[in-house]
Amino acid sequence: MNTLRGNQGPRYRHTPGESAPYETIRVEKLTPIIGAEISGADLADLSNRQFDEIHRALAENLVIFFRDQRLAPREHLDFGRRFGDLHIHPAAPHEEGEPALMKIHADRNSPRANGEGWHSDVSCDELPPMGSVLYIKQCPPDGGDTLFASMYAAYEALSDRMKSYLDGMVAVHDGEEVYRGTYANFGVADRPNYPKAEHPVVRTHPVTGRKALYVNRGFTRRLLGVPRDESEAMLRYLFEHAENPLFQCRFRWSENTVAFWDNRCTQHRAMWDYWPHTRSGNRVTILGERPV
Ligand code: SIN
Repeated sequence: MNTLRGNQGPRYRHTPGESAPYETIRVEKLTPIIGAEISGADLADLSNRQFDEIHRALAENLVIFFRDQRLAPREHLDFGRRFGDLHIHPAAPHEEGEPALMKIHADRNSPRANGEGWHSDVSCDELPPMGSVLYIKQCPPDGGDTLFASMYAAYEALSDRMKSYLDGMVAVHDGEEVYRGTYANFGVADRPNYPKAEHPVVRTHPVTGRKALYVNRGFTRRLLGVPRDESEAMLRYLFEHAENPLFQCRFRWSENTVAFWDNRCTQHRAMWDYWPHTRSGNRVTILGERPV
């Protein structure tokens, strides 16, 4: 029994949108709310029709997964470029000569792994990434899953009073605490400053027109226009709300799998439960627009 809510039905009632059948790919949903595995597509060799359907599958499922891919670094970068200009990470290590090809790697000697807390990628940037394409080539024998959460669902599950309260509110997102010193083990020197930006707490997705909650525990530091104690209490509530498992899927990787997520309407969290084993791959990140 849900002791917090009593007998009021589910916390969130998902109403699926209309979806036309796919003709050039197969789409198998992980949950009704978020996540789908796509098959029948070779990301290194996509037809225009497949590309369009993958774009639609992303809009409908928020994060999509492609197993058994064989992508050379150039093909990985080219796949990202089909969706927009590439984003250069303000701190993380990248492959030599390819600033847009970020390293995602943890092994026995790592002091940390990427993305261990809930976040939307680099939301501290003025123009935060639209999406991220993570290609995991080496997996641990078990573990190393990634959790994804729908911020449409998180927004829609708020009470009407809370939605009114948050309407027009702006939050500060700051990369300083997240990035300073974080990549020293990769030999990355700190920069004098890291990005900091103000974004609406609720943003409207430019493709779907749906509203999404846009605060995350990783980067969001303060709500503007309210006292500090109110900001802290409200953010605590919103982070906890956004992390409700009801809005989530959990993906189990296999080697040579690609995940493509939309940072404008999701958050994610990587599990580092596989030490001392190695998990390794690359991420290509696609530049986004100013959140509105
Ligand atoms: C990230 O936040 O990009 C890392 C996600 C993962 O390693 O699963």
